[in-house]
Amino acid sequence: MVSVVAAVVAALATCVASLRMQTEQGPAPEMSGKLRVADARMADTSKMFQWSETRLGAPMTASQACSVAWNFSTQSEWKERDPPVFPEAGIGARRRVAPIDGMEYQVFLPLGWGNNSLYPYMTTLYFHSHPERKTSVMNSGSLPRMLARNQSTSFDNRSCWCLDMNATAYVESGSAAEAYDAGASPVDLASPMADCTFADTFNGLVIMPQGWTGSETPGWSSERLGKAKAITKFVMEKFNGDADKVIVTGTAEGATGALEFAKAYKDLVSAVILTDAAGLAYTGGLEGVPVYVTGDGSQSNIASIDSLVVALKARASGVTRYARYVNAPSAADPGFAPGYGHSSYLFFLNREFWFNWAYQYTNTGGRSGWDMGPLNHIVMGRR
Ligand SMILES: *[C@@H]1O[C@H](CO)[C@@H](O)[C@H](O)[C@H]1NC(C)=O
Ligand SMILES: *[C@@H]1O[C@H](CO)[C@@H](O)[C@H](O)[C@H]1NC(C)=O
Ligand SMILES: *[C@@H]1O[C@H](CO)[C@@H](O)[C@H](O)[C@H]1NC(C)=O
Ligand SMILES: *[C@@H]1O[C@H](CO)[C@@H](O)[C@H](O)[C@H]1NC(C)=O
Ligand SMILES: *[C@@H]1O[C@H](CO)[C@@H](O)[C@H](O)[C@H]1NC(C)=O
Repeated sequence: MVSVVAAVVAALATCVASLRMQTEQGPAPEMSGKLRVADARMADTSKMFQWSETRLGAPMTASQACSVAWNFSTQSEWKERDPPVFPEAGIGARRRVAPIDGMEYQVFLPLGWGNNSLYPYMTTLYFHSHPERKTSVMNSGSLPRMLARNQSTSFDNRSCWCLDMNATAYVESGSAAEAYDAGASPVDLASPMADCTFADTFNGLVIMPQGWTGSETPGWSSERLGKAKAITKFVMEKFNGDADKVIVTGTAEGATGALEFAKAYKDLVSAVILTDAAGLAYTGGLEGVPVYVTGDGSQSNIASIDSLVVALKARASGVTRYARYVNAPSAADPGFAPGYGHSSYLFFLNREFWFNWAYQYTNTGGRSGWDMGPLNHIVMGRR
């Protein structure tokens, strides 16, 4: 399919560790209160360190993040080392952990994580795009970057990322025949340009599998989707995931992965978010599933996303929403070709979309669908 995200310029083979000071890994600074890990037997591994889960001092305010100098480097995360593989997931942290079935992944646990099965966590499965296949690049933008308490990167020294663009969007249309209301003036969604405490407050599990690393573009094949499913089941069982609230999402090739996953395992998914899915067609298989589509209306490929929305609206049942932004930010990482809009950044950064939209949808029978077995108590109602 056509990718909205241009390929990273640098060659894959050169994954040179940077010698500069601004690097994700390094000696741990002196600080009290090491992060907790989920399994106490792994406690001593908290000596392992990555900046993304460490923030010195108070968080920046959004207005600080959007006004301070920050662009001290032009080095792409493509040239940085990937994060270390941790032996255990960390609470309030986005961590790369040991592969399952040969597939690498990162997992985020919320800061208030607990193992009380009466309060399971919404679970999001994030499929990366082709440029995001290197983990450090995946973490340089989009949802994975927001899941860091310190959002700095090799090219941006702010602990809080500010988008260089406000979210103004076309008005959605009540008509099934049109993707949006072309006759109405776009409106400012007044959504945030920065969220410095997103990772402190995001109250769900996020699973970010790595499908491929090379220059080939195999996409999210059914075999890869099966492995992502096995990882998701493992994480939900171990970390109190809510099998009735499983959201799948991704950008470009990742959106294709999310759509294919939802089609293959329709009863296991509670909502789907497809961002910058240029050239992606919908031909069936998602009756009843809520889908949110996002796109950058200034891009030449927007017509294909409009068509996707119209095709989804033609379903007999299932909510279709569309955030068709007038403009969307360029890639954060300087290694990406400029000029391609990333509507995913505007969307994922807005916690309202997660907790007012995505969270409201609930499946029934998710645990048996995911083959997780019954709980030893009866859930009488939900929070
Ligand atoms: C954020 O991480 C960077 C390294 O990427 C580090 O230099 C900086 O001091 C950290 N900022 C805070 C506020 O912790
Ligand atoms: C930093 O960004 C400013 C505008 O935000 C730009 O004028 C300047 O050239 C940039 N500097 C570098 C070194 O990229
Ligand atoms: C980031 O680096 C720039 C350029 O070196 C510097 O002016 C700025 O103060 C730094 N900002 C932060 C938040 O460290
Ligand atoms: C975004 O909107 C805010 C509030 O209207 C404004 O202060 C700010 O300058 C805008 N930023 C950009 C990049 O348009
Ligand atoms: C959470 O509880 C489940 C069910 O008792 C258990 O299988 C799992 O190992 C626990 N997770 C952790 C990290 O202790």
